[in-house]
Amino acid sequence: MRMDRLTLRFLIAVMLASVSLAALASSSVRVFTDGDSVETLIANIPQKARSKTNPVEKNPDATLAGRKLFEQHCAECHGENANGTKRGPSLNVPQLEQASSGELFWIITNGVVRSGMPSWSKLPEPQRWQIVTFLRGYSRY
Ligand code: HEC
Repeated sequence: MRMDRLTLRFLIAVMLASVSLAALASSSVRVFTDGDSVETLIANIPQKARSKTNPVEKNPDATLAGRKLFEQHCAECHGENANGTKRGPSLNVPQLEQASSGELFWIITNGVVRSGMPSWSKLPEPQRWQIVTFLRGYSRY
Protein backbone atom coordinates (compact mmCIF):
# COMPACT_ATOMS: atom_id res chain seq x y z
CA MET A 1 0.00 0.00 0.00
CA ARG A 2 2.75 2.43 1.02
CA MET A 3 4.79 1.49 -2.03
CA ASP A 4 1.76 2.04 -4.21
CA ARG A 5 1.34 5.59 -3.00
CA LEU A 6 5.00 6.28 -3.60
CA THR A 7 4.79 4.82 -7.06
CA LEU A 8 1.76 6.96 -7.76
CA ARG A 9 3.55 10.10 -6.59
CA PHE A 10 6.53 9.21 -8.70
CA LEU A 11 4.34 8.73 -11.75
CA ILE A 12 2.61 12.06 -11.17
CA ALA A 13 5.98 13.79 -10.82
CA VAL A 14 7.19 12.24 -14.08
CA MET A 15 4.00 13.28 -15.84
CA LEU A 16 4.25 16.86 -14.59
CA ALA A 17 7.89 17.03 -15.59
CA SER A 18 7.19 15.85 -19.11
CA VAL A 19 4.29 18.27 -19.51
CA SER A 20 6.47 21.23 -18.54
CA LEU A 21 9.28 19.95 -20.74
CA ALA A 22 6.91 19.83 -23.69
CA ALA A 23 5.77 23.39 -22.96
CA LEU A 24 9.39 24.50 -22.82
CA ALA A 25 10.21 22.81 -26.10
CA SER A 26 7.31 24.39 -27.95
CA SER A 27 8.13 27.87 -26.65
CA SER A 28 11.72 27.75 -27.83
CA VAL A 29 11.18 27.40 -31.58
CA ARG A 30 12.97 30.66 -32.28
CA VAL A 31 15.67 30.13 -34.83
CA PHE A 32 16.08 33.66 -36.07
CA THR A 33 19.65 34.22 -34.95
CA ASP A 34 20.76 31.30 -37.08
CA GLY A 35 22.31 32.77 -40.25
CA ASP A 36 21.43 29.63 -42.19
CA SER A 37 17.72 30.15 -41.62
CA VAL A 38 17.80 33.55 -43.40
CA GLU A 39 19.48 31.83 -46.32
CA THR A 40 16.89 29.06 -46.32
CA LEU A 41 14.12 31.64 -46.09
CA ILE A 42 15.51 33.53 -49.09
CA ALA A 43 16.23 30.34 -51.04
CA ASN A 44 12.57 29.36 -50.84
CA ILE A 45 11.17 32.59 -52.29
CA PRO A 46 9.39 31.98 -55.63
CA GLN A 47 11.31 33.19 -58.70
CA LYS A 48 8.48 35.48 -59.83
CA ALA A 49 8.51 37.36 -56.50
CA ARG A 50 12.30 37.54 -56.51
CA SER A 51 12.53 39.53 -59.72
CA LYS A 52 9.82 42.12 -58.93
CA THR A 53 11.25 45.61 -59.25
CA ASN A 54 10.86 48.33 -56.67
CA PRO A 55 8.90 51.31 -58.13
CA VAL A 56 10.59 53.67 -55.63
CA GLU A 57 14.13 52.27 -55.69
CA LYS A 58 16.77 54.79 -54.48
CA ASN A 59 14.14 57.48 -54.01
CA PRO A 60 15.10 59.70 -51.03
CA ASP A 61 11.46 60.60 -50.27
CA ALA A 62 10.57 56.93 -50.16
CA THR A 63 13.52 56.32 -47.85
CA LEU A 64 12.20 58.91 -45.40
CA ALA A 65 8.64 57.58 -45.61
CA GLY A 66 10.00 54.05 -45.20
CA ARG A 67 11.95 55.06 -42.12
CA LYS A 68 8.76 56.39 -40.49
CA LEU A 69 6.87 53.22 -41.34
CA PHE A 70 9.73 51.14 -40.01
CA GLU A 71 9.66 53.04 -36.71
CA GLN A 72 5.89 52.54 -36.48
CA HIS A 73 5.65 48.89 -37.41
CA CYS A 74 9.02 47.17 -37.22
CA ALA A 75 11.29 48.85 -34.68
CA GLU A 76 9.59 47.26 -31.66
CA CYS A 77 11.04 43.92 -32.76
CA HIS A 78 13.96 44.78 -35.04
CA GLY A 79 15.19 47.87 -33.18
CA GLU A 80 15.33 51.54 -34.19
CA ASN A 81 18.37 50.99 -36.40
CA ALA A 82 17.30 47.50 -37.45
CA ASN A 83 20.08 46.02 -35.34
CA GLY A 84 17.70 43.57 -33.67
CA THR A 85 16.15 43.13 -30.22
CA LYS A 86 15.15 40.14 -28.11
CA ARG A 87 11.99 39.89 -30.23
CA GLY A 88 13.49 40.00 -33.71
CA PRO A 89 16.80 39.58 -35.53
CA SER A 90 19.10 42.26 -36.90
CA LEU A 91 18.29 43.16 -40.49
CA ASN A 92 21.79 44.55 -41.03
CA VAL A 93 23.27 41.26 -42.13
CA PRO A 94 25.06 40.39 -45.39
CA GLN A 95 22.35 37.91 -46.41
CA LEU A 96 19.76 40.71 -46.47
CA GLU A 97 22.11 43.33 -47.90
CA GLN A 98 22.64 40.98 -50.84
CA ALA A 99 18.95 40.13 -51.14
CA SER A 100 17.02 41.66 -54.05
CA SER A 101 14.30 44.24 -53.42
CA GLY A 102 11.74 41.68 -54.59
CA GLU A 103 12.99 39.23 -51.97
CA LEU A 104 12.68 41.78 -49.16
CA PHE A 105 9.21 42.72 -50.40
CA TRP A 106 8.21 39.05 -50.37
CA ILE A 107 9.45 38.51 -46.79
CA ILE A 108 7.61 41.62 -45.55
CA THR A 109 4.44 40.64 -47.40
CA ASN A 110 4.35 37.02 -46.24
CA GLY A 111 6.13 37.21 -42.90
CA VAL A 112 7.60 34.17 -41.22
CA VAL A 113 4.49 33.72 -39.14
CA ARG A 114 5.61 30.46 -37.53
CA SER A 115 8.61 32.14 -35.90
CA GLY A 116 7.02 35.46 -34.94
CA MET A 117 7.48 37.66 -38.01
CA PRO A 118 3.99 38.96 -38.89
CA SER A 119 2.70 39.18 -42.46
CA TRP A 120 2.34 42.80 -43.62
CA SER A 121 0.07 42.05 -46.57
CA LYS A 122 -2.54 44.45 -45.13
CA LEU A 123 -0.12 47.35 -45.38
CA PRO A 124 -0.66 48.93 -48.85
CA GLU A 125 1.92 47.83 -51.45
CA PRO A 126 3.41 51.32 -51.99
CA GLN A 127 4.15 51.50 -48.26
CA ARG A 128 5.78 48.06 -48.29
CA TRP A 129 8.03 49.22 -51.15
CA GLN A 130 8.93 52.35 -49.17
CA ILE A 131 10.06 50.13 -46.31
CA VAL A 132 12.13 48.08 -48.77
CA THR A 133 13.74 51.30 -50.06
CA PHE A 134 14.51 52.36 -46.50
CA LEU A 135 16.09 48.99 -45.69
CA ARG A 136 18.15 48.88 -48.89
CA GLY A 137 19.33 52.48 -48.99
CA TYR A 138 19.56 52.72 -45.25
CA SER A 139 23.19 53.80 -45.04
CA ARG A 140 23.20 55.71 -48.33
CA TYR A 141 20.90 58.64 -47.62
C1 HEC B 1 6.39 41.06 -33.51
C2 HEC B 1 7.76 41.21 -33.88
C3 HEC B 1 8.10 41.61 -35.30
C4 HEC B 1 7.64 42.71 -36.00
C5 HEC B 1 6.66 43.77 -35.54
C6 HEC B 1 8.33 42.66 -37.27
N1 HEC B 1 9.15 41.58 -37.34
FE1 HEC B 1 10.39 41.08 -38.90
N2 HEC B 1 10.91 39.40 -37.95
C7 HEC B 1 10.53 39.03 -36.67
C8 HEC B 1 11.11 37.74 -36.35
C9 HEC B 1 10.96 36.99 -35.04
C10 HEC B 1 11.85 37.35 -37.50
C11 HEC B 1 12.65 36.06 -37.69
C12 HEC B 1 11.88 35.07 -38.53
C13 HEC B 1 12.75 33.89 -38.91
O1 HEC B 1 13.60 34.03 -39.80
O2 HEC B 1 12.56 32.83 -38.35
C14 HEC B 1 11.71 38.41 -38.47
C15 HEC B 1 12.30 38.38 -39.73
C16 HEC B 1 12.32 39.43 -40.60
C17 HEC B 1 13.06 39.48 -41.85
C18 HEC B 1 13.93 38.35 -42.40
C19 HEC B 1 15.25 38.30 -41.66
C20 HEC B 1 15.48 37.06 -40.86
O3 HEC B 1 16.55 36.98 -40.21
O4 HEC B 1 14.64 36.16 -40.83
C21 HEC B 1 12.83 40.69 -42.41
C22 HEC B 1 13.41 41.25 -43.71
C23 HEC B 1 11.92 41.40 -41.53
N3 HEC B 1 11.62 40.62 -40.45
C24 HEC B 1 11.45 42.67 -41.76
C25 HEC B 1 10.46 43.28 -40.98
C26 HEC B 1 9.82 44.54 -41.33
C27 HEC B 1 10.20 45.39 -42.53
C28 HEC B 1 8.87 44.77 -40.36
C29 HEC B 1 7.89 45.93 -40.30
C30 HEC B 1 7.00 46.09 -41.43
C31 HEC B 1 8.94 43.69 -39.40
N4 HEC B 1 9.89 42.80 -39.82
C32 HEC B 1 8.15 43.61 -38.27
C33 HEC B 1 9.72 39.75 -35.82
C34 HEC B 1 9.04 40.91 -36.16
